[in-house]
Amino acid sequence: MKLLITGGAGFIGSNFIHYILKKYPDYKIVNLDLLTYAGNLENLKDSEGNPNYKFVKGDIADAKLVNELVKEVDMIVHFAAESHVDRSILNSISFIHTNVIGTHTLLEAAKNNGNKRFHHVSTDEVFGSLAPNDPAFNEKTPYDPRSPYSASKAASDHLVRAYFHTYDLPVTISNCSNNYGPFHFPEKLIPLFITNLLEDKKVPLYGDGLNVRDWLYVEDHCAAIDLIIHKESIGETYCIGGNAEKNNREITHELLKLMDKNESFIEFVKDRPGHDKRYAINFSKIKKELGWEPRVNFTQGLKKTVEWYKNNQDWWKKIKSGEYKDYYKNQYGK
Ligand code: NAD
Ligand code: DAU
Repeated sequence: MKLLITGGAGFIGSNFIHYILKKYPDYKIVNLDLLTYAGNLENLKDSEGNPNYKFVKGDIADAKLVNELVKEVDMIVHFAAESHVDRSILNSISFIHTNVIGTHTLLEAAKNNGNKRFHHVSTDEVFGSLAPNDPAFNEKTPYDPRSPYSASKAASDHLVRAYFHTYDLPVTISNCSNNYGPFHFPEKLIPLFITNLLEDKKVPLYGDGLNVRDWLYVEDHCAAIDLIIHKESIGETYCIGGNAEKNNREITHELLKLMDKNESFIEFVKDRPGHDKRYAINFSKIKKELGWEPRVNFTQGLKKTVEWYKNNQDWWKKIKSGEYKDYYKNQYGK
């Protein structure tokens, strides 16, 4: 089996590459990643010498390059995206380029090279925002994206389904809730707060801090995608969640406790514009059809994550200082 993994130098993509190379040592992986600010080859240092792993620096919207790479593989697992909501609020053009045009470019290449198997990694944010007592999102929930990020991901999901219906492209889609774990870029809530606390800095809680997310340990997300790509579930969508709804204050308090800090480290700051109130996932379809459920509960997962950031200070300090980009300059000349 030869996989083209896009966005494999990012948070979830790099965890997925580690997961696949460990579980299927004979699989071949090509990792196509543009190495934007969020892509970090240090996430994959362990795999660099592996003869079954190859890195290609490039843009998923580069049709010529994508076509050449897709020709050589059996399947595409598509993670590459602009992924941070706050950045999409400041400027969304790169979100349209990568999430919409990039996904379209990959779909065209998959269609034009013998209808290659295509798995699209998407998000629960496409379903919009829930009120406190609304039932959790499921595969039939209508789309209602509310940020430029989630709108661009919704557009990509629609394109993937369109290629299934129009061209019989063998696709699957997964819509997952908030991930956390190793290699999570320290601009997102959990890694930002852990690394700030390790630096004795305050943590910026948006608005009233009562927005709710459903948290999933990243390895559980990788296990779900592994099941989806290995079962004949063509045309299907799966919602993936952690069964761990928490508001941001609860998370902050758990982190303060784990890291031996008091409430004086909390700083309430201006809210995110259009801030979605609550996400929650009903994952009964993937549980029933593929036997998947989360294995790591939130308390265990958060503890493991704090330990990882304590033990890998070099990794996140280089990111926070901007020094990690020198690594690419040396290797790729830009
Ligand atoms: P990330 O921002 O950590 O990584 C994205 C990767 O894509 C980076 O390595 C970046 O260099 C690469 N990339 C960006 N633009 C590219 C382009 N034009 N061409 C090639 N590579 C490009 O993101 P993540 O958190 O790992 O998310 C991965 C996927 O999972 C995304 O599609 C995201 O929407 C989805 N998702 C994320 C979460 C979450 O909680 N992080 C939850 C559900 C779904
Ligand atoms: O739900 C899945 C999505 O989860 C993914 O599709 C996105 O790629 C991923 O970034 C994540 O989006 P969120 O916006 O939910 O994640 P973020 O970590 O940015 O924020 C989580 C919550 O914490 C949200 O309610 C905003 C709040 N927050 C975030 C930051 C960065 C703060 O209060 N302070 C902060 O500094």
